[in-house]
Amino acid sequence: MAKYRIAWLPGDGVGKEVMEAAKIVFDGLKLDAEYIHGDIGWEFWCKEGDPLPKRTTDMMKTTDAALFGAITSKPQKEAKNELIPELRDKGLTYFSPIVRLRQEFDLYCNERPNIAIPGNPLNLNGKEDINITVFRENTEGSYAGVEYGPVSDELKAALAKDSPKMKFFMDTPGEDLAISTRIITRRGAERIIRAAFEHARKFGKKKVTLVEKPNVLRKTGGLMVEVFEKIAAEYPEITAWFDNVDAIGMWLVKCPEKYEVLVAENLFGDIISDLCSQLVGGLGFAHSGNIGSNYAVFEPVHGSAPKYTGMYKVNPMATILAGKMLCTYLGEHEMAARIQKGVELTVKERKVVTYDLGGTAKTLEVAEEILKNALK
Ligand code: IPM
Ligand code: MN
Repeated sequence: MAKYRIAWLPGDGVGKEVMEAAKIVFDGLKLDAEYIHGDIGWEFWCKEGDPLPKRTTDMMKTTDAALFGAITSKPQKEAKNELIPELRDKGLTYFSPIVRLRQEFDLYCNERPNIAIPGNPLNLNGKEDINITVFRENTEGSYAGVEYGPVSDELKAALAKDSPKMKFFMDTPGEDLAISTRIITRRGAERIIRAAFEHARKFGKKKVTLVEKPNVLRKTGGLMVEVFEKIAAEYPEITAWFDNVDAIGMWLVKCPEKYEVLVAENLFGDIISDLCSQLVGGLGFAHSGNIGSNYAVFEPVHGSAPKYTGMYKVNPMATILAGKMLCTYLGEHEMAARIQKGVELTVKERKVVTYDLGGTAKTLEVAEEILKNALK
């Protein structure tokens, strides 16, 4: 029996291709694992009305962790039109499977490292000292899915009772009104902020910054700042401060060295982590772990890139680095270090790289090259 059971979730489009690439590296490094395929993605939405069938989440519960490729998602109207005819009138709504996985498995911590690889021509302004890890809260905020539209008179009245600012919207007809919420719980804030500080302490990082907007989002932002300040006091060796999300956007481009660890609620973390990834090579490199107390799903940040599907053109490094995070999670530290070395050497030499790095190599050729370098 293999030491680990890994749920293997390629998903759609180039997701399948980059997962093939990751498999080449795992097999070459002899990761002692059994891989169990899980159905997930657009095909299952169209055929079954569910892009994340229950059999897949049931299977995942029997595994140690998962690696996930990418998924196609389309606006609600298109999604409905692509359902098989017998499912069209059933009132089904498409939800992003990855968002659902994060909620259903309570994978509250989305860790997104953005570390410049020396010699990567895509590093912003040639900077090689960028090393920012984003800790994004992964289960609440604006992703909690608590939304209203059209808005009923009862809800309007209830909101007006507790929020004086609602008076500006009382005359707007319910059908012309849509409300999305941003839910922050103290527990949710505490556990993501603690994860960020623990990471900083473990890796000797000196700075942790909260990404917020408490001057406008007074209640939710206020709670985030309150919890942040309380937890920061437990880590006196770390300099901690909060910056407004808009200002951080500017500073990240101007002076990314200013930051080491960023912690943010879900949507701010989503936005700021794309920005950070672009500082160190963009989506070809951006990788992440969705980590909970008992389970984790690792994934590249990029999507299924329909226009490249079937071409084996995209950079597999993001998925291979997500695989590295998976190895670290399993405690396979030597293997993780080898994968890092394999990617670094491949980028540095730039002999076998994909188009984004100025090369002509195919996805799987890059995987073979990374493996060769990892074994050196
Ligand atoms: C990400 C993605 C997802 C998100 C999408 C695919 C729902 O952008 O992982 O950052 O918004 O979280
Ligand atoms: Mn995103």
